[in-house]
Amino acid sequence: MLKIAVLVSGGGTNLQAIIDALAEGRITNAKIVRVISNKKDAYALERAQKAGIPAQTVCRSDHPDKESFDGALIKAIDDAGADLVVLAGFLVVLPGELTEKYAGRIINIHPSLIPSFCGKGYYGLKVHEEALKRGVKVTGATVHFVDAGCDTGPIIMQKAVCIEDNDTPEVLQKRVMEQAEWVILPEAIDDIANGRIAVDSSGRVVRKGK
Ligand code: GRF
Repeated sequence: MLKIAVLVSGGGTNLQAIIDALAEGRITNAKIVRVISNKKDAYALERAQKAGIPAQTVCRSDHPDKESFDGALIKAIDDAGADLVVLAGFLVVLPGELTEKYAGRIINIHPSLIPSFCGKGYYGLKVHEEALKRGVKVTGATVHFVDAGCDTGPIIMQKAVCIEDNDTPEVLQKRVMEQAEWVILPEAIDDIANGRIAVDSSGRVVRKGK
């Protein structure tokens, strides 16, 4: 049974997608053991509570410096006994110590087709604003393993979403969530939980038995 820690900062709709997929049997052989938020008022915490999942906050403002915050974050994940860390809208740059310690065991959902519209500064609505500004006709979402870089880790899964005339960033964000993020994040977790995904020696994600 894969033990998952989900890290959140906001609304937690991706967390909800995982909770629902577990309840409906679309993710098997896994369990969320803890939700960790860096924001005390994140609605994701209420979602965790409603689902009976232990939740805790680790906030930068409760710590004198970044080192102390980073240490508390790593301790929270260690204490949860997590086999897999899922970043589901977690707006914190992970400390190198964490990406090293949990190499190959942290995944992130990003709301674009990496390598487009990703990297430093590309989060939330900004991603969709930039996609619309550039005039791309197709965008989407990506689930990837997390390495020391920003949105640079091996890609696990992607799903494309069409951009429509008159889209606003908000409308596009909602479509990308509904059609891509909430679909591929649970799918990727199910693949990992059931041993269908591995990373080869060149850092490429390979799929077994699919
Ligand atoms: C999602 O768009 C996710 O891709 C991005 O942050 C957003 C989080 O939304 N990393 P939610 O908190 O899961 O509703």
